[in-house]
Amino acid sequence: MRLVVTKMNLGLWAAAYVKEKINAFAPTEQKPFVLGLPTGGTVVDLYANLRLFYKEKLLSFQHVVTFNMDEYVGLPQDHPQSYHSYMYHHLFNEVDIPPSHIHLLDGQAPDLFQQCAQYEQAIAQAGGIELFLGGVGRNGHIAFNEPGSPLDSRTRPVDLAPATIQANSRFFLNDVHRVPTRALTVGIGTILAARELLFLASGPAKAAALARLSQPGVTADCPLTVLKRHPHATLLADPAACALLAEAPLKRLEALRRAEPNAPHWVLELKEDAK
Ligand code: GLP
Repeated sequence: MRLVVTKMNLGLWAAAYVKEKINAFAPTEQKPFVLGLPTGGTVVDLYANLRLFYKEKLLSFQHVVTFNMDEYVGLPQDHPQSYHSYMYHHLFNEVDIPPSHIHLLDGQAPDLFQQCAQYEQAIAQAGGIELFLGGVGRNGHIAFNEPGSPLDSRTRPVDLAPATIQANSRFFLNDVHRVPTRALTVGIGTILAARELLFLASGPAKAAALARLSQPGVTADCPLTVLKRHPHATLLADPAACALLAEAPLKRLEALRRAEPNAPHWVLELKEDAK
């Protein structure tokens, strides 16, 4: 996998990347671009820039099909903190995506297991996901795959880790008791099956997860580390999120920054078996 470190706004970098991918794919009604989408604070700027590109007619979502990563169990769709509300607010209400192209897990479905199985079927029917965008939890979770999640897991209901409930309480009036304790999430296996991954991590709160990523190996204790098993994965990070990288990659990054201080970004390869 590639670790791309930049001092640029991560949302602008990522939105420009997504725009180029979609436009190079030249999607049509018969051959739409299938995009996996995240939520969270980190990707607010990504959506702001995608909306801007749409307004400037540099990007269209007419032939884009989306699948969101996850959703809380039990929150009504119109709850301001549901991922459903988040997505319509930050993207879907503002661009030309046909409503039939939008896929979100329904955390209020009467049969959650059936809901998850149908979601996997819908992804398969769409031909799989071309590009899965993601964020990173402070504890290294990806989507809502908490530490300990099986590496071959598929879309399923999960319990949220106490650390995640604590971290996400900032969206629920800082009250942990208001945060749902369960969610539906695509699995680690679902994410790894996408043809390309682009994940974003910013700020010191993510430094511990990136520290684990930069050590050798892949472990269910830190789901983010599975990115090293994907043939075409990028983690886009700011310098603050890289502050605790292992010694060898940190030295490589410092050398790159010294050599080209004004480069738009610096790229490190991270391998499963190497330091
Ligand atoms: C939630 C989402 C994750 C996301 C994470 C990061 O827990 N389920 O998919 O990656 O938030 O959030 P933030 O960007 O707000 O730190």
